[in-house]
Amino acid sequence: MTIGILGAMREEITPLLAKLSNIEEINYAGNTYYKAELSNHNLVIAYSKIGKVNSAITASVLCEHFKIQKLIFSGVAGGIDEDLNIGDLVYATKLLQHDLDLSAFGHPYGFVPESKVFFETDSKLCEIAIKVAKNNNIDLKPAIIASGDQFIASNEKKNWIKDTFKANAIEMEGASVANVCSHFDLPLFVLRAISDSANDSADMDFDKFLETSAKVSAEFVINMIKEI
Ligand code: ADE
Repeated sequence: MTIGILGAMREEITPLLAKLSNIEEINYAGNTYYKAELSNHNLVIAYSKIGKVNSAITASVLCEHFKIQKLIFSGVAGGIDEDLNIGDLVYATKLLQHDLDLSAFGHPYGFVPESKVFFETDSKLCEIAIKVAKNNNIDLKPAIIASGDQFIASNEKKNWIKDTFKANAIEMEGASVANVCSHFDLPLFVLRAISDSANDSADMDFDKFLETSAKVSAEFVINMIKEI
């Protein structure tokens, strides 16, 4: 099977590449794609650059050009729930775009006509992740993940997202990737390790914990690939 693995930032895929050998590098449509093999699967790994548009482009390329059959997103997120600590792992059950606003026309936040607010992930991939977590004694939590083109670093904004969407974690790519996958009918799994609490120290925490949290997520993904 050909599996795509996507991160937003270089730091989010570096720990994945470090675990692989015989990597082939391909430049296509403004990004670099890394091909490798693991457990009888062909992997195509890339980082998209930050944000919903960049991640939608890269997810579409993985789908249409590299013909992946499943997509796994690996990276970091800001924790919304009080009980989420730095380094904790969450997987998305569903995702939404918190900054999509047609409320002036009476639509709910996150909704555009002919689409929907929430995009689901693949239940089979989620089950595999739950099994991997159990086998490795990892406390993997399900989460509603809110995505937007904003780095959230205020309790006020964080609480608005929490109250409006009942979201548990926040990042900048998952929902746009989920939207792409729903168009292509491509099974998606989104994993995030917490790097900050989206509060007024989020910028400093993010810089401090990006690499360690990205590694937590990447190592889990490697274990997951072995179970697929
Ligand atoms: N990714 C990691 N932390 C984040 C935050 N606080 N806001 C948006 N995306 C993030």
